[in-house]
Amino acid sequence: MTITEADNLARERLSDRRYYHTQCVAKAARELAPRFGADPDRAELAGYLHDIFKEESDDVLLKTLGASDIIGDKDLAGKHALWHAFAAGEYASEVLGLDREICDAIRFHTSGRDGMTPLDKTLFLADYISEDRKYDDCIKVRKTAERDADEALLEGIKYTIAELLERNAVIDPRTLDAYNSCVRDL
Ligand SMILES: [Fe+2]
Ligand SMILES: [Fe+2]
Repeated sequence: MTITEADNLARERLSDRRYYHTQCVAKAARELAPRFGADPDRAELAGYLHDIFKEESDDVLLKTLGASDIIGDKDLAGKHALWHAFAAGEYASEVLGLDREICDAIRFHTSGRDGMTPLDKTLFLADYISEDRKYDDCIKVRKTAERDADEALLEGIKYTIAELLERNAVIDPRTLDAYNSCVRDL
């Protein structure tokens, strides 16, 4: 699949607002990729695809997730924010035939995971600091990323956890694993 094809797919599937976010993430991913040792073309492609299921109904998400691991996750119900990411990863693998590295970066763009790959890190941070995001935490992490991409990634994971704690929301163990592995790598 080419970058242009991924861009067209995102354009077809998303509202103007979400498509704009997607364009910003794809651009940020391309720029961040070399900082983590990832390939810029693959990062941009993953950026265009990362949220293609963001506006789907729960029915479609669950159907798409049918074959994936998350369906066996005991508190799937408390992790609604992760469904679109896992569904998009599944679609990228099963329908688009993309390789494991790209599909996993899409799957784990919201939760992170233990031992994140360079492409995982690129997409997670790109999604956190994309230009369309105006929250204080995002602005702070964007500033940190100008100086140090690894530190920005850790900061983004910390803010993600803090925000879940604040809302009494379920924290996916993968996000804690991501935090632990980033701290270990400092
Ligand atoms: Fe997302
Ligand atoms: Fe996103």
